[in-house]
Amino acid sequence: MSESYADTLNDLTPEPTGARRVVVLISGNGSNLQALIDEQTHDRLGGEIVAVISNVADAYGLQRARDAGIDAVVLPHGEYDSRDAYDIALIKVIERHEPDLVILAGFMRILSSRFVQRFHGRMLNIHPSLLPAYRGLNTHAKALADGVAEHGCSVHFVTEELDGGPVAIQAVVKVSEGETEASLKEKVHAREHLIYPIAVKWFLEGRLRLEGDAAILDGTTLPPHGLRLSHADAAEELDEE
Ligand code: GRF
Repeated sequence: MSESYADTLNDLTPEPTGARRVVVLISGNGSNLQALIDEQTHDRLGGEIVAVISNVADAYGLQRARDAGIDAVVLPHGEYDSRDAYDIALIKVIERHEPDLVILAGFMRILSSRFVQRFHGRMLNIHPSLLPAYRGLNTHAKALADGVAEHGCSVHFVTEELDGGPVAIQAVVKVSEGETEASLKEKVHAREHLIYPIAVKWFLEGRLRLEGDAAILDGTTLPPHGLRLSHADAAEELDEE
């Protein structure tokens, strides 16, 4: 082969860049996981979900992963004596998949500080409230009981403070007359499926990062509530009445 032909071939051979690798942790239904899988299927995620890990053996999300041809792993917490022992095992399983990003999508476990520190700056969670309002569980019932006008969901970096890390994006839902916990939950869930893929894509494209106590998007420090998708914009996107 002449030298010039070899040079041309080298020019045409793409560098092995490798897609950014994502591991998703779930405990249940996995509708947020499905939203991410759907984006991946359309080549819009900006990376590849390489494994889904569940602490619950019959979590439906595992089936969603298998259906999409993604490695589905069960790591039952009941088989470990302590939170720390479980988290050490979980870290090992996650690291085997060499993720750039760890996504919590309905992973119903309190995380040890060892675990949180290990994935600092590269772990996101979705929470069903407009943080910092209503950290923890039963957010829809609490919002209704308080009679708030607006509720919603938030994607945030995971830090040691429960549901307390810097927020990247939120979506708002107006609480209507006669709203029930079920109807509110459904509207919030639909918004979760809109904003989680957006935040994940930002991260995987290198646009979103954690710096100190702040989420940075395209070099600009985001406000404490992150970017906000208004009720009207979300409703339009979702074709809601
Ligand atoms: C969502 O409401 C999310 O906000 C919370 O857990 C739930 C998971 O739902 N962290 P799914 O399993 O993705 O359907």
